[in-house]
Amino acid sequence: MPYLAWSDELDTHIPELDAQHRVMIEHVNRLAAAASSGSSRQIREAMAALADCVRQHFAFEERVLEMIDFAGLEEHRQTHRNILAELDDYRARLETASPAEAEELVDTLGPWVVEHIRHDDVDFGPTVREWLRDAAPPNDPFRQLVGDS
Ligand SMILES: [Fe+2]
Ligand SMILES: [Fe+2]
Repeated sequence: MPYLAWSDELDTHIPELDAQHRVMIEHVNRLAAAASSGSSRQIREAMAALADCVRQHFAFEERVLEMIDFAGLEEHRQTHRNILAELDDYRARLETASPAEAEELVDTLGPWVVEHIRHDDVDFGPTVREWLRDAAPPNDPFRQLVGDS
């Protein structure tokens, strides 16, 4: 059983963003597996991979929100900054954590990664989809993100 599972309520119905969110969840699951293996090298690697993935995803998502002039962009950007700062903090704490502490830390990290998707990202889904369908220039590369949904 993976530590975190995908569920429909995490769907923004924007294919590229949903694909990136799924990859983020996989990274959290890899980190959880590393934490339960007790290997500090694996934990460090999995944590670094998760942080990289989240950073790249946030930059991409913010570009999408900029494109649509999303009213909540600044607030969303600030939330992303807070999450990245928190991830840095986790990363530092994992460096020196015992195996038991590492498992505990990862247990508290998973849920808030998912909460951001569920509460904040799902909220902008309709606005992004509407823009992509109705207002995006015909050749706009972001149109591809809508797919058929
Ligand atoms: Fe996101
Ligand atoms: Fe976000």
